[in-house]
Amino acid sequence: MHRHDRFVRKIVPAGAVSVLATVLLVGYAAEPDRYTRGFEPEQPVHFSHRLHAGDNHIPCQYCHTGPSKSRTAGVPPLETCLNCHRVTRTDRPAIQQITAWAKSGKPFEWRRIYSLPDHVYFDHRPHVNSGIACQECHGEVQRMERISQAMSLRMGACLACHRDPSDALPPGSSIKQGPTHCAVCHR
Ligand code: HEC
Ligand code: HEC
Ligand code: HEC
Ligand code: HEC
Ligand code: HEC
Repeated sequence: MHRHDRFVRKIVPAGAVSVLATVLLVGYAAEPDRYTRGFEPEQPVHFSHRLHAGDNHIPCQYCHTGPSKSRTAGVPPLETCLNCHRVTRTDRPAIQQITAWAKSGKPFEWRRIYSLPDHVYFDHRPHVNSGIACQECHGEVQRMERISQAMSLRMGACLACHRDPSDALPPGSSIKQGPTHCAVCHR
């Protein structure tokens, strides 16, 4: 092989690939919301918030029992689905799939969507109990066929609201600010 051939066939393409990779990486790092907002994984069985929380007006906390009394909101086990689906729509393939899964005793886990790094402390209670709606952070969930991450989980997004939460709080609230000292979120 001529030296020139080798240059054209191997080194030029390798150079082009690394330039492209650099451009993509820099773009990715410089756009902080790209890997947070819009994350929308497929779940092991289909579940529609639009149908349940929207059309059928099932309250969020019927299924997510935690947010006003513990740090986490909690995602319901299949047992919660069967509270209704032992009798509702049992002829549907999707419901038969859920029923069979629950009966089999096979471990079942929903894929997590909102997830902060371990070094950050978050607690649903002060937020929910001060009257901030789920939708302020999670978007119009009751219209979503599949949950899509609405809020950026970047530090700046937490701080923007802590500095001025007035739009998120109910009218007449006595709370003027959320805490902004480092130790409140990094303990
Ligand atoms: C009938 C039960 C049910 C109701 C009612 C319900 N949810 Fe859910 N929710 C689920 C299930 C199951 C999942 C996990 C599967 C998924 O992501 O769709 C979930 C997931 C979520 C997640 C994402 C969790 C994560 O992994 O980060 C959020 C946020 C959420 N729900 C908010 C709400 C809000 C807000 C309401 C009310 C407007 C609501 N849900 C009503 C069952 C329910
Ligand atoms: C101030 C913003 C905020 C509000 C208000 C809020 N959440 Fe969350 N939620 C978050 C954040 C941030 C996370 C990720 C927490 C983590 O990774 O530790 C989360 C996680 C979740 C999860 C998945 C993990 C878990 O905690 O089980 C569910 C489900 C959820 N929220 C439902 C709700 C519901 C239902 C409401 C209303 C009753 C609500 N949230 C109100 C910010 C909020
Ligand atoms: C409080 C009662 C209730 C709970 C709890 C509930 N559902 Fe439902 N679900 C309904 C009703 C009512 C419908 C019918 C909605 C319609 O057709 O308007 C339905 C419909 C469905 C359908 C559509 C079936 C079809 O093909 O038409 C699926 C799939 C489903 N639910 C899955 C789930 C899952 C998964 C859970 C648990 C996370 C769950 N449901 C929890 C009441 C409930
Ligand atoms: C939509 C507005 C809003 C957003 C977004 C928000 N917060 Fe808050 N947060 C508040 C308010 C308001 C308070 C003060 C509540 C009070 O004084 O009762 C608060 C209080 C807290 C507290 C204090 C808890 C305690 O024990 O005193 C922590 C921790 C916290 N937030 C963490 C976070 C983190 C982490 C995020 C981002 C992932 C976040 N918050 C996003 C409004 C918000
Ligand atoms: C209201 C909550 C909140 C407060 C207050 C807060 N942080 Fe953070 N911090 C976060 C969240 C959420 C993240 C993770 C997301 C991210 O990296 O943007 C984070 C991430 C970080 C990181 C890691 C960044 C990285 O690239 O991994 C450092 C360092 C940090 N914070 C320092 C601080 C310091 C110093 C203060 C006080 C001046 C502070 N934080 C106050 C919520 C908070």
